[in-house]
Amino acid sequence: MLDLSPDRLTLEPIEIASRDEIDALQLCRLKWSLAHAYHNVPHVNAAFKAAGVHPDDLKQLSDIARFPFTTKADLRANYPYGMFAVPREKVVRLHASSGTTGKATVVGYTAKDIDTWAHLMARSLRACGTRPGDVVHLSYGYGLFTGGLGFHYGAEKLGCTVVPVSGGMTHRQVNLIEDFGATTIGSTPSYMLSILDEYRAQGRDPRTCPLRVGVFGGEPWTTAMRAEIETAFDMHALDCYGLSEVIGPGVAIECVETKDGLTLWEDHFLAEIIDPETGAVLPDGEYGELVLTSLTKEALPIIRYRTRDLTRLLPGTARSMRRLERMRGRSDDMIILRGVNVFPSQIEEQVLAHPGLAPHFQIELRRDGRLDSMRVLVEAVAAMEAAELARLSAGLHKRIRQVWGINVEVTAGLPGSVPRSEGKAVRIVDHRPKI
Ligand code: DLL
Repeated sequence: MLDLSPDRLTLEPIEIASRDEIDALQLCRLKWSLAHAYHNVPHVNAAFKAAGVHPDDLKQLSDIARFPFTTKADLRANYPYGMFAVPREKVVRLHASSGTTGKATVVGYTAKDIDTWAHLMARSLRACGTRPGDVVHLSYGYGLFTGGLGFHYGAEKLGCTVVPVSGGMTHRQVNLIEDFGATTIGSTPSYMLSILDEYRAQGRDPRTCPLRVGVFGGEPWTTAMRAEIETAFDMHALDCYGLSEVIGPGVAIECVETKDGLTLWEDHFLAEIIDPETGAVLPDGEYGELVLTSLTKEALPIIRYRTRDLTRLLPGTARSMRRLERMRGRSDDMIILRGVNVFPSQIEEQVLAHPGLAPHFQIELRRDGRLDSMRVLVEAVAAMEAAELARLSAGLHKRIRQVWGINVEVTAGLPGSVPRSEGKAVRIVDHRPKI
């Protein structure tokens, strides 16, 4: 593999600043962000007052622990524009999280926010070894998902030639990578493995492909997958973390010269690790739930957002800023199926709303070859013929596809066919290999 370590002189000064300099910048920006949210977002104003805190109470970074958390439920309750700190007319872009029933999590960006995001994505791509002039093939979904456009703007800002392919039509993806000479690819890691299968199906040798760098994220993946992709394509495979509520991709990135976890862009985001049960802040190095506060965002300042992602904070290596270890899982039961976020409660809503179905269901997750698949087991309210059960299955399948745009297998059985549990209902049975 090519050595793509950056020339340190080309890094931004803040990437190699001292800890004191980073802390001072964070404190100054945090004060602004708290005041901006407090004065412009009624929900934040009420939440601070209920907790008995005021932005002026923040004298040092650790005082952030006195402020209330923000959760996904807060964003949903204030759907669509209630969390915005600027008039809607100043919002130049909306994105929304997938996998919700009507009440999506809506996020907005001012022109300056888009610029900040593009800047962070350009910085992230460069940290992965992408350089101006590279051809960047983007297989992340374009649309309300932040993956496609987030990478797109960043790659353009870095000065690359962007190929906005989006997902799907894997056969064509392989042809485009080869014909256009793509040197960087952005994709979910599971989709990259599908692209690898397609290379083999076409009888092409992936090691001779033009790709040198792959930037993978949007879902959990493993160091074993990294090894498989790197060996198969003779390319660097880097981890990229982010979430819509905080900005999208571009929150943290792995640096190509160390590949030792995700450097968090601390000049724009303040990280804490908390105990997911008690909410108490944990020291660096301990595992817990990541909580993020935006420091510079105008349209949607987000204060102490509970990401539900489990990880730990580690000292900086390739950059001065601290690192996040590869995500270990989530503290809630959100399933990420081919990039679409789905909660079991949302499946439940559909089951309950469907005439003829009893309120019992179980979700089975499997890995079919490269991709994860989901089967929903439900049961009819009364005994019926197989043809009627098939009609029930088809009805729920269609409804789930309409709401989330994903194809899941639905099997409707006779009353009593969904396994019951003695304690809490077991909603998810995960047959996927553990990561
Ligand atoms: O997935 C943003 C993104 C797009 C990140 C492309 C990286 C690349 P959401 O759809 O809001 O945003 O989903 C965010 O996905 O809370 C994690 O649970 C999970 N996730 C994202 N990146 C990673 C990663 C985008 N590198 C949710 N490793 C997050 C593990 C990840 N999980």
